[in-house]
Amino acid sequence: MAFEKNILCIGAGYVGGPTMAMIAHQCPQYLFFSTGIDQGIQEADIIFVSVNTPTKTFGAGAGMAADLQYWEKTARQIREVSRSHKIIVEKSTLPVKTALAMERILTATANGIRFDVLSNPEFMAEGSGIQDLETPDRVLIGSRETPEGVTARDELVEIYANWVPRERIITSNVWSSELSKLVSNAFLAQRISSINAISALCEKTEADITEVARAVGMDRRLGDRFLNASIGFGGSCFKKDILNLVYLCRQYGLDEVADYWDGVVRINDYQKERFILNMLGAMFNTLAAKRICLFGFAFKADTGDTRESPAISVSRRLVEERAELVITDPRALANAEADLADIQGLVAFVEDPYEAAVGCDAIAVMTEWDIYAALDFRNIYETMRKPAFIFDGRNILDHEELFEIGFNVFPVGKPPLTHF
Ligand code: UGA
Repeated sequence: MAFEKNILCIGAGYVGGPTMAMIAHQCPQYLFFSTGIDQGIQEADIIFVSVNTPTKTFGAGAGMAADLQYWEKTARQIREVSRSHKIIVEKSTLPVKTALAMERILTATANGIRFDVLSNPEFMAEGSGIQDLETPDRVLIGSRETPEGVTARDELVEIYANWVPRERIITSNVWSSELSKLVSNAFLAQRISSINAISALCEKTEADITEVARAVGMDRRLGDRFLNASIGFGGSCFKKDILNLVYLCRQYGLDEVADYWDGVVRINDYQKERFILNMLGAMFNTLAAKRICLFGFAFKADTGDTRESPAISVSRRLVEERAELVITDPRALANAEADLADIQGLVAFVEDPYEAAVGCDAIAVMTEWDIYAALDFRNIYETMRKPAFIFDGRNILDHEELFEIGFNVFPVGKPPLTHF
């Protein structure tokens, strides 16, 4: 359809950049890009706000609440320079009712300009961003249920309808839309904490977490995805969004609800600590002066991103136990060095996994990179100190084969395979 609009996106990070690229790709007939923000705001009909909303590090809610300073600054800037009606699209992940605050800031000066604020959260994951944008499970657009709100919402629906089937574009009120983003991430993280909690029980009972996950996942009401037991979830979103949800619940006096969701993060921390305690127990209750090689540092495979990666806290704990640490990763070494700058000198960073493992007592798999499953572990075993240990924090290796080579193997949620 013919559709002539100027679209501006403020914030070109992991979300804003690819989203705009996809809109430009799917709707080449009308897009203009500009780098001057003030001029961009004036010319725009629709403004996506996709600025950073990290966890607050200071003051009330530090460590829990979202830091909204960049977002508010953007709202004020839009208000100052706008000369005509705009649709504002919240793309950043924000606490519920932020759109209301946005409306209040935008309309705080009586200059007669109308702003319609929509919520349109992004559900894409790293490493599959373009695919998620191209064929999303759903696009969610929240608006006010006033005639103006519905008209604004319909404009955004038309943009997505250029490539997303209409039955996948769903609409709701603004608050539901804002909350759905936090809840989607909370549910995904909860699934991981659920399977990880059960992995602890499996290790005590000779049940096997992979077999349990398969049996549970075949129930179509539950589904089989996101049931891989692991060292714990990482990434910039899950923890941040759950803590944000927890903070929100506490603000409304819903302490039981807050405690429930806080449990997802607590189990995640427990899983990382349990991994360290398993290592300690397996390696004769001391890691001091033992050389341990971490296979992988990224928070998941196919990215160099290490934000909230479980490997960060595992590294710190191992150094606390006075182990010597070697870290290898195909893409995340530069970030790993930056993350561990304060313990510089106590950690070696080695690109090649074979080289990294030489002289080590143990290997601990932190990231599910395909390349690790394809390594020649016979060769690696020869170069390691004995007894040699493997702690597979992602269950990606062939444990029987490793055991036959001579390793003592400790998977997550499965009985260990040991030679003593
Ligand atoms: C997540 C969500 O999946 C996206 O839908 C959401 O849009 C995004 O956050 C966001 O809010 O921006 P992402 O953080 O890129 O995406 O990564 P995920 O693929 O969800 O993985 C998160 C963590 O869970 C990783 O550390 C991963 O290794 C771990 N994980 C995942 C498991 O331990 N087990 C699983 O079965 C699945």
